[in-house]
Amino acid sequence: MEFIIQMEPWFDEKETNHIVEYMNGGGWVTEFKKTREFEAMIAEYTGAKFCSVLPNGTITLSVALQACGIGIGDEVIVPDYTMVASPNSIELIGAKAVFADIERDTLCLDFECMKAAVTPRTKAVMLVTINGRCPSRMAEMIEYCAAKGIHLIEDAAQSLGSFKGGVHLGRFGRIGSFSFSAPKIITTGQGGALITDDEDLIKQIRYIRDFGRERGGIDHYLVKGWNYKFTDLQSIVGIEQMRKLPWRVERKKQMGKMYNELLAGIPQVGLIPTDLEETAPWFYDILVEDRSALLDHLKSKGIGTREFYPALHAEPAYGYNQLHFPITEEIARKGLWLPSSCKLADAQIGYICDTIRAYYRK
Ligand SMILES: Cc1ncc(COP(=O)(O)O)c(C=O)c1O
Repeated sequence: MEFIIQMEPWFDEKETNHIVEYMNGGGWVTEFKKTREFEAMIAEYTGAKFCSVLPNGTITLSVALQACGIGIGDEVIVPDYTMVASPNSIELIGAKAVFADIERDTLCLDFECMKAAVTPRTKAVMLVTINGRCPSRMAEMIEYCAAKGIHLIEDAAQSLGSFKGGVHLGRFGRIGSFSFSAPKIITTGQGGALITDDEDLIKQIRYIRDFGRERGGIDHYLVKGWNYKFTDLQSIVGIEQMRKLPWRVERKKQMGKMYNELLAGIPQVGLIPTDLEETAPWFYDILVEDRSALLDHLKSKGIGTREFYPALHAEPAYGYNQLHFPITEEIARKGLWLPSSCKLADAQIGYICDTIRAYYRK
């Protein structure tokens, strides 16, 4: 059997053919009609009023914060367990990332830990709906932030295709952010999107992405903005990927059910609860005590895996070694992502799970 890669992007001839057609038709390449079409598809799929696509899912978060008026000296609460882009996007605009611990069953921000991290300088909470899951007390978080005038920015980078109560993730915050980097359910190589129902915010976002200009080509600058524009070439890929999304969402759910069934009852393998009616998992995650031994064994059997993110507060980039977030530290030590590409065949999932079962039976 060929080596099973943990995650890979997936295209077919449609992306290629449309790019060739566009290039032969004299397209401007930079963002224009195809980008507007891609944005409209994301808005329609998620149910948001507005969407703006940007170069990646790190810039989207910084722009979301900037559009809410957050900057130097402000504090933004962020889970200690997330991709490093979440806190880095806060520090990029001169604000301070304040870490808080997560819940064990959802891997999302813990409401009590979040409240304990609030100070008079707290201007926003970055709610990361990690791996398509939501915090168990999300409704209370939303209410609390609204009452305190704290902006709720949703980092839904890993959640395209996942819903809660029929509402697409990314729509619970004032602004929701997605990423289209290569390991995501759809990809444009690099890319990101912001969604919101707030017309004033989307106007700010559109100014910021184009040097602060009200309109392209008019050199009058309303706010300080940057060049965070997308390209039509990437949007052509994105449009074709969006057309494949509904099928991929269903496949991800089926794959999740298969993994759950085939790994059930192995005492050494911890599964994290996932509502597979509404969640299209980004990656399939397990918790094991002997992670590096299992990783090496799976590799020797032709199966690629990836370790969870580390506890960010203690990484050299942040260096808050005096802090302690027990749940994050535990899951960062035990967490392993199994192969998660929609390209995986049922037989490959069977082989992965059989290999794990046999390893623990030894
Ligand atoms: C939770 C989370 N936030 C932000 C990002 C950053 O997105 P990008 O890689 O598109 O900058 C990622 C990327 O994986 C992510 O997983």
